[in-house]
Order: sequence, then C-alpha cells, then structure tokens
Amino acid sequence: MNNFELLLAHANEALQFAHAPYSKLKVGAAVLTESGRIHTGCNVESVAFPVGGCAEHHALAAAVRAEGPKLRVVAVAVAAINGDGRDVPIPPCGACRQLIHEFGPGAEVTFHARSGRIERFPISVLLPETFSF
Ligand code: THU
Repeated sequence: MNNFELLLAHANEALQFAHAPYSKLKVGAAVLTESGRIHTGCNVESVAFPVGGCAEHHALAAAVRAEGPKLRVVAVAVAAINGDGRDVPIPPCGACRQLIHEFGPGAEVTFHARSGRIERFPISVLLPETFSF
C-alpha cells in the first residue's frame, strides 16, 4: 500500500463517523504532514445549515491541534459515500482548497474524480492564484 492508498483508507475510516443527516453525504478526509503523522476528520452538519463543516477543514483543525500551526501538509485524501453507501466523487470544495493550500502549498490531493477514477492533483492546480496577503 502506498502513501496515497493509506491516506484514502484513513479517509474511508473517518467518514464512518460523519454526522450528515441532511445531505446524507458522509465525507472523510485524511491529512499527511511533513512529520509523517496522519490526521483525520469527517463532515459534521447542523440543523442550522451554515454551522456545519467539511471533513477536510476538520482534519486540518485536528492536525493543527496535534502539531501546532507551523505544520506542513504533504498530502490530503478525501473519500465520501452517499445515502445508499455508494462511493461518490468528492473533489474538495473551494474553501477547503484555500485551507489546504495555506498549510501545504506543495500538497498533493487525492480523491475519487467524476471520471470514476482515483485522481491526484497538486493543490496549486486545484486552486491557482490562491488568496494571500
Ligand atoms: N463536504 C465536505 O465535507 N467536503 C467538501 O469538500 C465538500 C462538502 C460536506 C459538507 C456537507 O456536510 C456535505 O458534504 C454536503 O455538502
């Protein structure tokens, strides 16, 4: 199993903990940092819809909590299943791309693409011209 397969396995494990009663979309994310550690997160929804948050965001928050704000993200994997338990393609949303880039401008991001294949892109390709000041 290579690093990306391992990360996807962690993302798949994390999505089992998702709280997604509204969308029925369970998402898991796993983040590999420069230190070699893996941190995971799942989406958590709220009846007050905008209060809910993405799996990638929560995985990054867990990473910061564990390693501090200077951590560097090397790779991210995202996995998701729908209400029928089927794998669904989940390219990270725009806000999560921004966050991934901030902690890992060289990070590689793996996810099930709409093509049905597992794809991998540098975050700089997924989010060119990243906001920064
Ligand atoms: N979601 C994620 O966890 N990550 C993304 O990159 C996109 C969307 C979650 C948020 C919400 O709980 C559900 O998917 C439907 O939007």
